[in-house]
Amino acid sequence: MTFLAISGSARRASTNTAMLRTIQQMSPAEVVIDLLSPVNSLPVFSPDLEGENTPPEIERLLAAIETADGLIFASPEYVRAIPGGLKNLIDWLVSRDAIINKPIAIAHASHRGEDMLASLRTVLSTISAAFTSDVFVSFALMAKSPAEIDDILRQPENSAAITGFLSDFADHCASNSNSR
Ligand SMILES: Cc1cc2nc3c(=O)[nH]c(=O)nc-3n(C[C@H](O)[C@H](O)[C@H](O)COP(=O)(O)O)c2cc1C
Repeated sequence: MTFLAISGSARRASTNTAMLRTIQQMSPAEVVIDLLSPVNSLPVFSPDLEGENTPPEIERLLAAIETADGLIFASPEYVRAIPGGLKNLIDWLVSRDAIINKPIAIAHASHRGEDMLASLRTVLSTISAAFTSDVFVSFALMAKSPAEIDDILRQPENSAAITGFLSDFADHCASNSNSR
């Protein structure tokens, strides 16, 4: 099972990216997680740049999505919404076949951000028929450093939550691929 984890934060010491990195390192042998934090390197979406005009970095993103069995999104909330960089990334995916039946789940690195989560759930369930809000994990990591996050997530109760999240998402991806 291969997952692609996408961080919605462009910040160097991002809690969302650090959380995804530790989840990547803690994943069991049968789960491979590739980590992308591309939101600050993508061009602004325009329908004029689709088809044969698609930029190479978008082609690479689409190829990575195509290859993955499932996507894990993690994002900060900015002004009670999805940050512009992540929304831009999602806009690039809307008209693409790679996303239509791609299983997607959310991991969350804050005790806040309910408006962003509600909006992200709406957006992801719009672009993919296989988005699940049932598979979800959340940790209160706001303002923690990457080293602190690594320590926190390796504590037994958090490690168990991550194992359960990855196992539930693998089951969701498997059942989705069986039903196609
Ligand atoms: C411009 C900006 C706007 C923000 N707006 C909100 C907000 O509306 N609600 C909230 O809970 N946090 C807000 N925050 C806090 C971030 O969501 C929070 O610090 C998050 O953990 C950052 O994630 P990161 O470490 O992955 O970058 C905002 C932060 C910034 C920089």
